[in-house]
Amino acid sequence: MNKWLKITLIVLGSLLLLVAMAGAGGWMYLKNTFLDFEKNYTEKQDIQELTIDAYTFLDRNGNEQLDIYEDDRRSIEARADDLLSKMTQEEKIHLLKGSGIASALGRGEIGQVIPGAVGTIVPTPRLGIPTIYLSDGPAGLRIQPTRKGEDRTYYCTAFPIASLLASSWNKDLVYQVGDAMGSEALEYGIDVILGPGANIHRHPFCGRNFEYYSEDPLLTGKMGAAMVNGIEDNGVGTSVKHFVANNQETNRNNNNAIVSDRALREIYLRGFQIIVEDAQPWTIMSSYNKVNGSYVAENEILLTDVLRDDWGFEGIVMSDWFGGRDAPAMISAGNDLLEPGTKLQWKALKKAAENGALSQEAIDTSVKRILKLILGSKKMQNYDYGNDPNLAAHAKIARQSAAEGMVLLKNNAVLPLRETQNIALIGVTSYDFIAGGTGSGDVNEAYTISLEQGLSNAGFEVNAAAKQAFETHKANNEKAFDKPEGMQAMFQPYDPPELVLTQEQLAEVVATADIGILTIGRNSGEGGDRIVEGDFRLSEEEQEMLSNTCEAFQAAGKQVVVVLNIGGVIETASWKEQPDAILLAWQGGQEGGNAAADILSGKVNPSGKLPMTFPIEVEDHASHDNFPPGGGSMDMLSMIRGTKDKPLDEQVANVDFTRYEEGIYVGYRHFDKEALEVSYPFGSGLSYTDFDLSDLVVIVREDSILVNVEVQNTGDRPGKEVVQIYSTKPDSQIDRPEQELQAFAKTPVLAPGASATVTLQFPISYLRYWDEDGDRWQLEEGKYQIKAAKDSRDAGLTIDIVL
Ligand code: BGC
Repeated sequence: MNKWLKITLIVLGSLLLLVAMAGAGGWMYLKNTFLDFEKNYTEKQDIQELTIDAYTFLDRNGNEQLDIYEDDRRSIEARADDLLSKMTQEEKIHLLKGSGIASALGRGEIGQVIPGAVGTIVPTPRLGIPTIYLSDGPAGLRIQPTRKGEDRTYYCTAFPIASLLASSWNKDLVYQVGDAMGSEALEYGIDVILGPGANIHRHPFCGRNFEYYSEDPLLTGKMGAAMVNGIEDNGVGTSVKHFVANNQETNRNNNNAIVSDRALREIYLRGFQIIVEDAQPWTIMSSYNKVNGSYVAENEILLTDVLRDDWGFEGIVMSDWFGGRDAPAMISAGNDLLEPGTKLQWKALKKAAENGALSQEAIDTSVKRILKLILGSKKMQNYDYGNDPNLAAHAKIARQSAAEGMVLLKNNAVLPLRETQNIALIGVTSYDFIAGGTGSGDVNEAYTISLEQGLSNAGFEVNAAAKQAFETHKANNEKAFDKPEGMQAMFQPYDPPELVLTQEQLAEVVATADIGILTIGRNSGEGGDRIVEGDFRLSEEEQEMLSNTCEAFQAAGKQVVVVLNIGGVIETASWKEQPDAILLAWQGGQEGGNAAADILSGKVNPSGKLPMTFPIEVEDHASHDNFPPGGGSMDMLSMIRGTKDKPLDEQVANVDFTRYEEGIYVGYRHFDKEALEVSYPFGSGLSYTDFDLSDLVVIVREDSILVNVEVQNTGDRPGKEVVQIYSTKPDSQIDRPEQELQAFAKTPVLAPGASATVTLQFPISYLRYWDEDGDRWQLEEGKYQIKAAKDSRDAGLTIDIVL
């Protein structure tokens, strides 16, 4: 063999060997550090039942005696103390961090993992303490729908996104959704649902706004509490996330949110506070970002002083996935559980426990909180989950709740549709409805009802020419219509190209249809923020499609309805005059198409109201100057590995740090203060009937304010109305918003002409403001105006009270 050839082969061979060795080394590192490092802590399977003195129990540690922690007649407190006293230091430290992401990847033996669950609380086999399974997320459970070697499926119900649920302004309904979600989790063996999300819509471009409820903390708090109560009444926990000020995805793992104490207390913390006060969730998830210079997951002021000492939170705080940098500092600050857990964290905790950097008291406090959660779980009661949730019943709840949260923005006597109409569906999303956002808030549902299917199910005729044009477009763009599945679906938004009909196609469609329905679709999610062009604003194709459709239909004396199948606010002011009606259908979960058809057909009278403002321009938001403009995203690698802080002079505004210069002026608080015109105000939404408010009575009690108001349906269709109570402090000595939402309630369905007295109550403490100088809540004395209204810009009825 030629000498050079020989040398080349040797070099190539060595390189290959090196690559293979590096690969194997990397894999071993990954496996030992992130995946299987808890091999010895697997759930004990053969626990015997014993009867002593006529009491039957599970002899979890196999000592043939009844220990206090095995006795469920004893209090959780006493059982947790007993368990704690029996644990070794090593067992305690194992409990402080999850068992890695193996279970999420479905790695491990069935019985030891639930594929798709994203984390666990590690079992303690010696004491017979079971594994606790954690699974996303806010719009429904997210576990893997199929399992190796099994024919059956494990689909979950995709419920509507949180912003839609908040648009219902109906706490009972949100409770019902939570109840269904909780029972689904219970039946699939999941102990804690990682949701709901309670961050505030600080700016419309946060990619995860769909997972969050509102720009208003009261609405956020009340909706979140209803969801938590609904889920937890099943004996399944929640993790209210992401605590706190995680309002952008751009560099979310390192971003430092620079927020005033007042804005924190009155806006960003307040929703969480209401949830803790009204629902005492099992867990809260600390967010990735820093607040005022320190990672939330390591911030004792937020996690202990505020959350526990001020608000009385009794549950556990868990980190967001790979969140926080310094494991012992996290435990010391009150972040009890590190998820999903890594070997590096295990080592750091062990070392800190040994050298005293982490106190025994901090370890025991966190361990005891975790033990209390485990002891209170259904797993501990040996609940025999059947993997058979009532998906049919939950689909009905999904449909009903989706319909109730859709918001009718405009209606020039088009809707409800007449029964016999032939409907031309324009826009690819009409045929391919979006159920929810991407990322961990995505759900693996069995199906998604499109608008086309929904309208067909409701008995409408779908225009053949429009459908044919769509089918041809789809066939011509086959690859782009390939929906990503599983992990891929989580991070890769599905965005097939829009179809603009040719003049001939449109002419045929208009000639053969009675009405046009045009859907605009948007999708976003974890990992990225939104942008102006083609996202907030309609793309050029969409503008063309909208103008062409409206002109052609209207020239023929026919009307056009726009359906918005979106997860976050878009620009509407520049085009809203063109169509005859606009329905904000949001992303309604798997039954979205049926629910939209329920509204369009009039089977359900719309009663949704906006939980955020639709501005004229995005720049109108006070936060706009301090929000990342480029749709930047999180960095996966730095999330897992952690990064070093950049020197101050290298830090980039809105990426490395974000100044919340707008303070408390978020959403309508800002638009009202500056008297800015908006496209659709906070709290607004139309109905097919009309309502009148009258007879406002406001009674000041010792600690609370009671409001009664009469609501009458003055139109000719049955429907529900939302009563919104706002407070104003005239002659305030401090800078305050013009008005703030204090309470709300939804009427039952009122028949035409029927009235109902709506009674609302809220604590006087809700009228306080955060006094930064005194570092406490303050109640201004004197006159307050209480307004009962149908939306934030409605003059409504007012009464002055004096405190
Ligand atoms: C998200 C959380 C989620 C967790 C587990 C994180 O990336 O921020 O919301 O619960 O992953 O999937």
